[in-house]
Amino acid sequence: MSFLENIHTLKTLIRSFHPIIVIETVEEERVETLLKAVVEEISTPLFEWTVNHGLAPTLGTKYSPRTNEYARPGTNQVEAFEKTAEPLDALKYIRNIERTGIFWLKDVAAHLNEPEVVRELRELANVYGSINSAFVITGESVSLPKDIVHDAVYFELNLPDGDELYQTLSEVMRDLKFRHKLRINLQGEELNQFVQALSGMTLKQARQAIAYAALVDGELNGEDILKVIHRKAQILREESLLELYPVEENTAKLGGFVGLKRWLARTKVGFSTAARRVNLPAPKGILIVGIQGCGKSLAAKTIAREWQLPLLKLDAGRLYDKYVGESEKNFRQAIKLAESMSPSVLWIDEVEKSFGGGDGDGGLSLRLFGSFLTWLQEKSGEVFVVATANDLLQLPPELLRKGRFDEIFYVDLPNAQERAAIFTIHLTRHHQALPNFDFKILVTAAKGFSGAEIEQAIIAGLYQALHEQRELDTASLVAQIKNTVPLSVSRREDVEKLRAIAAERFVPAR
Ligand SMILES: Nc1ncnc2c1ncn2[C@@H]1O[C@H](COP(=O)(O)OP(=O)(O)OP(=O)(O)O)[C@@H](O)[C@H]1O
Ligand SMILES: [Mg+2]
Repeated sequence: MSFLENIHTLKTLIRSFHPIIVIETVEEERVETLLKAVVEEISTPLFEWTVNHGLAPTLGTKYSPRTNEYARPGTNQVEAFEKTAEPLDALKYIRNIERTGIFWLKDVAAHLNEPEVVRELRELANVYGSINSAFVITGESVSLPKDIVHDAVYFELNLPDGDELYQTLSEVMRDLKFRHKLRINLQGEELNQFVQALSGMTLKQARQAIAYAALVDGELNGEDILKVIHRKAQILREESLLELYPVEENTAKLGGFVGLKRWLARTKVGFSTAARRVNLPAPKGILIVGIQGCGKSLAAKTIAREWQLPLLKLDAGRLYDKYVGESEKNFRQAIKLAESMSPSVLWIDEVEKSFGGGDGDGGLSLRLFGSFLTWLQEKSGEVFVVATANDLLQLPPELLRKGRFDEIFYVDLPNAQERAAIFTIHLTRHHQALPNFDFKILVTAAKGFSGAEIEQAIIAGLYQALHEQRELDTASLVAQIKNTVPLSVSRREDVEKLRAIAAERFVPAR
């Protein structure tokens, strides 16, 4: 939703007699801009309350003089009405002034455990339900007492969109240039990339990230885009369930998977403007099921690299971490973040662990799964979902129904050609000269091996060679391979069961 749409929605909520509007956000400056725009349009005054300051008209709105003779110089606050710091006093004051308006109560939820406050708010809400007035309640997380919940509506303030971020970037650039006398060297397409790099941040975080990137070396230029992306990755790690793999650093190399690669090449047009022009929906997502260590996770990274999109990995483990708390809210936040960074790839690794929990958790995983399915079905944004799974039996069957994903791919053990490709990728990664190896022998020896097991054999071989102060060669690599019992042998039954179910139902990834 763009900022203009936000104004429109909020205005409509107020006009349609919603007396209590809750906005869960820490971005008070954006709420202020939004509310100011709204009251301007519906021509009504705006008041704000905090427990420290009390109730006051918001600066720069109706009934608030632009210059306030009581305020200390430089302080940007209007003098509060007398004795309105206590929530109950503030509400009573509002009742007495008998004036329509928007009353913004900041962080008031913590005070709604007092029966008198709740009662007063309810009575006022009753009155406001029929006139053009409303309470707006903000806070990072707002849970209301049952008595009030009926009167309240939650308004979702999405993260800033491209236009808002662009405006912030321009403001900060101006400030850096004229106040700090820094060199600004950003033009044309770089500005768009900069804005894209900022997506997913709040305005405050964006401002800090830009200023920091510029001040650290005295100049703002194209190189700062990556700095901002790193800062964003750090913020996401600290404050959300998402891990960001920037396109700029995605070097995934996937051997084989021709079926999947062909599909990707074909589907890429789905993100083009030409596709939008003929009203085609953006591709939704795929599910990759298959044997352990055969490159599912690597495939997710490869998709993001091929399409040049940021990859966001949802941490399924932390979804249920009780110390992180509020699983559902965190999950919604993750989805909102992915949307604000779109076009992007949202990777849900080991999806059976995210949603296959069963009954043990009081229905939490079922509820989460429900919201995930609904979102998957209805999403209109350009967030491409890549879900990966090992254990088909733990997956809720609804996930496998046609139409949920664009395609479900099955990844089997690599065939001879693919094993050769995997050997090539990993020997090259470790600076080994390919002509030194007999690929035919290697590929035959590694029959039944997964990509991960091949990689492991190469690493073990290199360790040994280093220790013995000689070069790695075919014979010692084969010795390593013979030393390993691959999963396809040690867990033959599981592998065959998966293969039997998957092979007949899904599209081969290779
Ligand atoms: N097709 C491949 N091409 C190149 N490397 C591969 C391939 N398959 C596996 N590998 C190597 O094996 C490692 C493990 O693969 P990956 O993590 O993608 O497997 P996975 O299917 O996700 O396994 P798991 O089920 O354990 O999550 C990769 O990091 C990569 O180095
Ligand atoms: Mg994996």
